[in-house]
Amino acid sequence: AAVTHPASKLLGFTAMPISTSDEFLVPEGYIAKPLISWGDPILKNAPAFDESGMQPSSAQAGQFGDNTDGMSLFPLSGNRALMAVNNEYTNYLLLFAHQGNNLTADDVKKAQAAHGVSIFEVELKADGHWHYLKDSSYNRRITANTEMELTGVAAGHALLKTNADPTGKKVLGTFNNCSNGKTPWGTYLTCEENFNGYFAAPGAEMDTHQKRYGLKADKNKYQWNTFDPRFDMTKEPNEPHRHGWIVEIDPMDPTSTPKKRTALGRFKHENAAVTLADNGHVIVYLGDDERGEHIYKFVSKNRYNPDDKAANTDLLEEGTLFVARFDAAEGELKGNGEWLELTHGKNGLTAENGFDSQAEVMIYAREAATIVGATTMDRPEWIAVHPDNKTIFCTLTNNKNRGNKDNQPVGGPNPRADNKYGQILRWMPEKGDHTSDAFNWDLFLVAGNPTVHSDFYAGSANITDENMFNSPDGLGFDDAGRMWILTDGKYSNEGDYAGMGNNQMLCADPASGEVRRFATGPIACEITGLTFSPDQRSMFVGVQHPGEDNKPSHFPAGGNSKPRSSIMVIQREDGGIIGA
Ligand code: FEO
Ligand code: CA
Ligand code: CA
Ligand code: CA
Repeated sequence: AAVTHPASKLLGFTAMPISTSDEFLVPEGYIAKPLISWGDPILKNAPAFDESGMQPSSAQAGQFGDNTDGMSLFPLSGNRALMAVNNEYTNYLLLFAHQGNNLTADDVKKAQAAHGVSIFEVELKADGHWHYLKDSSYNRRITANTEMELTGVAAGHALLKTNADPTGKKVLGTFNNCSNGKTPWGTYLTCEENFNGYFAAPGAEMDTHQKRYGLKADKNKYQWNTFDPRFDMTKEPNEPHRHGWIVEIDPMDPTSTPKKRTALGRFKHENAAVTLADNGHVIVYLGDDERGEHIYKFVSKNRYNPDDKAANTDLLEEGTLFVARFDAAEGELKGNGEWLELTHGKNGLTAENGFDSQAEVMIYAREAATIVGATTMDRPEWIAVHPDNKTIFCTLTNNKNRGNKDNQPVGGPNPRADNKYGQILRWMPEKGDHTSDAFNWDLFLVAGNPTVHSDFYAGSANITDENMFNSPDGLGFDDAGRMWILTDGKYSNEGDYAGMGNNQMLCADPASGEVRRFATGPIACEITGLTFSPDQRSMFVGVQHPGEDNKPSHFPAGGNSKPRSSIMVIQREDGGIIGA
């Protein structure tokens, strides 16, 4: 499948080879430095990181959380900004000296404090590099125990009420925050993904709703239920309904209450790609990262007003949620599609089919999506809107169930059985109108391994032995329209993955189709989380779970140090624009 591309004018850097080393490597002429690592203190009085695993929960509550994921930068001035970043989960092998074998009540609090969101100020200093500012009055930790408000159509519904919260409107915390979004009115969206993995119900049977959301009765790996009864579904069966939402946070006000926006539906939210339709409605494209789940679109009821920030603060409160159906002629890697409305009383979303109200349609959005006939996808991860605001891209990371389960047939945008490598889907709203129900789609890229396979598993024509990778996950655009692809794949470098090395970041030209490797991560990491300084001369990229499962990483400090999830800042030695 090796092809040569006309040299893309967008891509101005030298391609990186694969790596199996324990370093974060960037092209010649670039530098990459850690900005902050798990455990670095961000709040006043928080202690320095101590790698013994013996620090109490109170220390972690003032430190940068674990396993960095989606992030956004909110400029304060030319050289100062706030960074809001997700801390998706934590690894007990690294968090605790006892590696999770002897959990105490304070350990559960510590694990809960390692999750959530970190907000901190960063400054481009005279040395030419970005530094985070410990003690800035903007700095904030949001954890699995921070008080939040449930808002929108499902707030206050009986299914959201618990013993601790009879109002169904007040919830503690956010966890497993995967990727993110940023609104035009300056708020941060954090996306609750695999929330199911924190709940248990010893001895119970799971019902249909619980099964569809992946909830399991057995003791889960985090064991929070042993010391925190709200994670025990035999005591609080409704607590899981209060998670799996998009949460809106105002980073500029450290005392503000985060808001869970129920109008955007409950599922395993990967990210929230926000844009504006020409008529001013706010559009949020949303992926549900699970084998055989769906892609969604929210359209706000009200319109964005660029002159009135206060009028925009509740735009995500009311609107219409849609889910995508992709149609294709047999064997075609392109076709048409339709957005199917998830509104109570329409498309079969009626009491006879189990939905008593719009609140229930949002709480059980996955089941509503099945009733309206949504297409089951190969694990939708990040969605990104091209700066032309006419084309949307989504990483479909992989799916071992494709072709092996009745509800996941091979075809359309999911063209390969037992999909190990993933693909990148692209769609174009009809007439460029994001509020239109109709769109066209194709596959921008089908990942594969042309050195191991000669069939469709070799990948599309723009995949070569020099740029191959598996499991695209993070996805984003810079202002010039370069598409950045971040991988969360198998890093064995053997068999189907031979010649792919560690997880990596690539850059693509959406017009020419060229894909070029830009950076490679350390051992056993995933690359995830991406944002830029406004001048596009600094790029912030996350290294998540280096050294997971006791793999031999000492990133970033080297020597014998404990591996730590970190945010890297990439700059050019000549101060130029990243990627150009
Ligand atoms: Fe947290 Fe779907 O990745
Ligand atoms: Ca992800
Ligand atoms: Ca992933
Ligand atoms: Ca991850």
